[in-house]
Amino acid sequence: VHVFNLDALTYAGSLENLKELPSPERHTFINGSILDQEFLNGLFQKHQIDTVVHFAAESHVDRSILGPGQFVQTNIVGTFTLLEAARKFWIQENNFQPSQTRFHHISTDEVFGSLAPGEPAWTEETSYAPNSPYAASKAASDHLVRSYGHTYGLPYTITNCSNNYGPYQFPEKLIPLIILNAIEEKPLPVYGDGQQVRDWLHVDDHCSAIHLVLTKGAAGTTFNIGGENQPANMTIVETICDILDEQKPRANGAAHRELIQFVKDRPGHDRRYAMDAGKIRRELGWHPRHNLTDGLLNTVDWYLAHPEWVLAIRKQLEYQAWLAKNYDTREKTA
Ligand code: TYD
Repeated sequence: VHVFNLDALTYAGSLENLKELPSPERHTFINGSILDQEFLNGLFQKHQIDTVVHFAAESHVDRSILGPGQFVQTNIVGTFTLLEAARKFWIQENNFQPSQTRFHHISTDEVFGSLAPGEPAWTEETSYAPNSPYAASKAASDHLVRSYGHTYGLPYTITNCSNNYGPYQFPEKLIPLIILNAIEEKPLPVYGDGQQVRDWLHVDDHCSAIHLVLTKGAAGTTFNIGGENQPANMTIVETICDILDEQKPRANGAAHRELIQFVKDRPGHDRRYAMDAGKIRRELGWHPRHNLTDGLLNTVDWYLAHPEWVLAIRKQLEYQAWLAKNYDTREKTA
């Protein structure tokens, strides 16, 4: 296949991420927005697009709390615009048979809300109960995709994944933020009591699941994808500290754990996420290859081995402004 990579290059996008592609001749980068209907219609026509894998989204909960409007635009209106382009080219203009096309939508476990300790993990049958503006915008986009399948016969699949981590992740998310702050000997901000639980999925395992759903999953279905690693945030932060004590000891010989700083909690902070990935395991034979121990080791190694990537991100003024906006005003609690 040939991949046309459409990206608006907003704050989290970077051409640095495309430097080590294994087969660059099968990839074309296109700078543009999923909010531009005419532009999207032209792309479908020009490149005879038969498959969409829709990753484009605003995805950081803290940003959705400080500025929800952009989430409504990109995640809801953007998904609608992309669906309209696919409907026009595939169905209204009848350029392909339904069996030749697929609209795959990438979504999140956050549409399901929050779990109490001991409650069973979410399945594909769990009702939606989004808590943050981010989660609500993703829930809305999932519903739009489903409705285009039901109403217009658009062949779609949806995957709801748990928290991703791994190489190239923008350092606003917990794991890369902690790795980079620890390397620079800056405070490691832990929200609230640090006992919130997430279900950590290595990005390579996520991508292998998406590929399976695209190639083997029936149209009109959804699958939950989870890493089946569910430690508390504090355990993640401590594990990263311990790995760095081995890989890159501090100049003064102190433990990285001493940099941990408890800060004021995120408003409406979801306590626990857990995905039941039984359906994709049973029906498509998927399973995660990374456990959290080797996944975190591999991720820390990647950030240590790519200082030029880190430098390019650090230089972005927007990133510095974000750190100041989200962290400088967050009062310390311990
Ligand atoms: P995050 O990576 O923002 O993902 P999400 O909110 O989608 O789960 O955060 C993961 C967890 O880590 C979440 O419980 C919030 C917490 N967290 C911190 O404790 N400190 C931080 O600086 C960040 C960014 C997150």
